Amino acid sequence: MEKQKIAIVGLGYVGLPLAIECSLRGHHVIGIDHDQGKVDDLHQHRSYINEIEDETITALMNRSFTATVRCEEAKQATVIVLCVPTPLASTGTPNLCYVQTALKQLAPHLQQGQLLILESSTFPGTTEEIIVPIIEGEGFLVGKTFFVGYSPERIDPGNKQFHLTDVPKIISGMTSECLQKVKRVYETVFKELVPVSSTRVAEAVKMFENTQRFINLSFVNEMARACYELDIDVEEVLVAADTKPYGSSAYRPGPGIGGHCIPVDPLYFKWKVNQAGATTRFIDLAKVVNDEQPDYIIKRIRSLLHSVEDASILLIGLSYKKNIRDTRESKSIVVAERLIQAGAHLAYHDPFIPVYTLCDQLYQSITIAKDTLSAFDLVIFLTDHDDLDYDMIVQHSKSIFDTKQCLNVEGPHIHKL
Ligand SMILES: NC(=O)c1ccc[n+]([C@@H]2O[C@H](COP(=O)([O-])OP(=O)(O)OC[C@H]3O[C@@H](n4cnc5c(N)ncnc54)[C@H](O)[C@@H]3O)[C@@H](O)[C@H]2O)c1
Repeated sequence: MEKQKIAIVGLGYVGLPLAIECSLRGHHVIGIDHDQGKVDDLHQHRSYINEIEDETITALMNRSFTATVRCEEAKQATVIVLCVPTPLASTGTPNLCYVQTALKQLAPHLQQGQLLILESSTFPGTTEEIIVPIIEGEGFLVGKTFFVGYSPERIDPGNKQFHLTDVPKIISGMTSECLQKVKRVYETVFKELVPVSSTRVAEAVKMFENTQRFINLSFVNEMARACYELDIDVEEVLVAADTKPYGSSAYRPGPGIGGHCIPVDPLYFKWKVNQAGATTRFIDLAKVVNDEQPDYIIKRIRSLLHSVEDASILLIGLSYKKNIRDTRESKSIVVAERLIQAGAHLAYHDPFIPVYTLCDQLYQSITIAKDTLSAFDLVIFLTDHDDLDYDMIVQHSKSIFDTKQCLNVEGPHIHKL
């Protein structure tokens, strides 16, 4: 196997696991992150991602891995992988400043013959229209003296069933030489590669995957609202529908879709489609339904209490999905802040998030115990973390609103979405 020197820029939920896997395959990995705190954590063998153990970081640091804030270290690399965030601007449009800044910082250090792979989720055309001009601005000819590819990341943090390297990896290159180079490095790391004909196609694959999920999850939330109006148990409907061996996918309702990807990527795609003078409709509607979902949750909470004002409410789960500490775009936060603004006395419990600032006030995750539970007027499940004592919560809470369909028991005090 050809050993490479791989610089991974951005050591977050995507970059750090990728660094670990590349290093496990014997590559020399240079991890670059502008967050000094993360680099210090790695040097002190401390993990800042909850599903990565400290021991894994110790093993990583003892292999051929260096962590640094200095992007000039990328000079020594044969391959540079960009795993920086692609959030939305306040206008709801793509904010590529992290990609552009990282690339501009790297630009003076780029070397002839290097391969750069973008992994960040983004709209079709980003690699060709934004990455390539910056690289060619340094005097390189892409496909001849410098190589560029795009490979969307499909990691699912907190998912114990699918390991990163078991998930087929979409790969693409600006030219066939670029694609061959991407293939040569990623075939040493991933079990199955799925080459596609262009970077635009690879970018569109990622947009399709996450947009499809956004639309389906929004629809299942609409379905939950409809079933409630019709006095039908939506969970029973979905479980029965799941038995169809073809054409049915398992989606579950919740307090609204959060995270850095699913509610964000469709808006990247929509923006690009709009730039081309065309319109989207499913994406727009899914966004409306998703944006409304916290209001719907509040409406249901109001129906369960005499008054939200002065009610004592315990929220369970602030992260946008189970078993992780990521709160980006989490609708739990929206619900929490709306309740505080409505005058509720709020407490929260999240085993992954010890403290959190809500409405400019610092809250601490409370310990769940029998007597504390019974003191709340309402306990609300917003995230279905595995590591919760569900039996105790059911037994000792006065009233429960389960927005995640995570309780498989019934009772007069249990209310489901
Ligand atoms: N988190 C996921 O589940 C997931 C899954 C698939 C794809 N993605 C995509 O992958 C990309 C990265 O997401 P993430 O969740 O890992 O983000 P993250 O915020 O966890 O990590 C990004 C890292 O990049 C660093 N960074 C930003 N600018 C930098 C710069 N100029 N130089 C060096 N470091 C810099 C940040 O400090 C941070 O540590 C995004 O495009 C995201 O949409 C994320």
